Amino acid sequence: MTIGIVGSGAMGAGIAQVVAQAGHPVRLFDQDAAALARATAGLAATLGKLAEKGKLTPEVAAATKARISPAASLGELAGCGLVLEAIVEKLEAKQQLFRELEVVVGEECLLATNTSSLSVTAIAAACQQPERCVGIHFFNPAPVLPLVEVVAAAQTRPGLADEVRTLVQSWGKRPVLAQDTPGFIVNRVARPFYGEALRILEEGLADIATIDWALTELGGFRMGPFALMDFIGHDVNFRVTEAVFAAFFFDPRYRPSFRQQQLLLAGYLGCKTGRGFYDYASGAVPPTP
Ligand code: NAI
Repeated sequence: MTIGIVGSGAMGAGIAQVVAQAGHPVRLFDQDAAALARATAGLAATLGKLAEKGKLTPEVAAATKARISPAASLGELAGCGLVLEAIVEKLEAKQQLFRELEVVVGEECLLATNTSSLSVTAIAAACQQPERCVGIHFFNPAPVLPLVEVVAAAQTRPGLADEVRTLVQSWGKRPVLAQDTPGFIVNRVARPFYGEALRILEEGLADIATIDWALTELGGFRMGPFALMDFIGHDVNFRVTEAVFAAFFFDPRYRPSFRQQQLLLAGYLGCKTGRGFYDYASGAVPPTP
């Protein structure tokens, strides 16, 4: 089955690698041709490095690379059995994309969203055939982290989430079925992890490094909340918090932080811009997974 991926950013490129490694031909599309070119070059470099390190045989790396082809337009995704979107986290953009995809793909093609925080039901509602829509939520970095949340929308046809769970398992991942509630499982549990850390900081009770140190060295977490927010990117992380906050009818437990909003407004998006809570240019870089 050919899989189409729309959006070739951090998630789309990683997911393309996962499914191509599992043997699927992949058509990767992005509305930004430069981003698509960067992703294609990045994937080639990543697969080359994996072969160099002996994590993949040169044959598997070459075959994986050969299975991923960039698409110049959405129309080139016509023959796909599944299209998974990993575009910007905006409801209207995802709805519009699914509307356009339904014109292009066949009746049997599944439409999946990698949304972190939006309602899969609301995305599916834009479709002529909403029963074919499902959430397939990977974690960053997709090729490394095994967990995938499979989310049935209210309209998803009975049995489809289970079929998708089996498919995701065949990609070497550990899928869990989650309900279509704000943040699903992990992003809901994670909100207080970030939110309370931000509140402790804002209340002046401890500094960033101390909080991260306590959580990693003493708490056994792989990354502290501030290093993790920097890694995810404040644009993505803040937007998820805003969406979960609104989806819970503004429950103060999920209230976004002014401190994080300030980073976003300043363009200090974290690792990807060289500065977030930590200044990566100074060389004091917290560990990443
Ligand atoms: P990103 O910003 O790295 O990449 C998004 C890509 O989508 C960009 O290359 C952009 O040009 C493209 N794009 C935007 N609108 C488009 C459209 N209408 N048609 C085609 N391409 C379009 O974003 P990232 O981090 O990869 O996130 C993508 C999705 O995955 C979001 O829904 C996000 O919430 C979700 N997600 C992100 C995670 C993360 O840690 N970054 C983790 C899990 C899910």
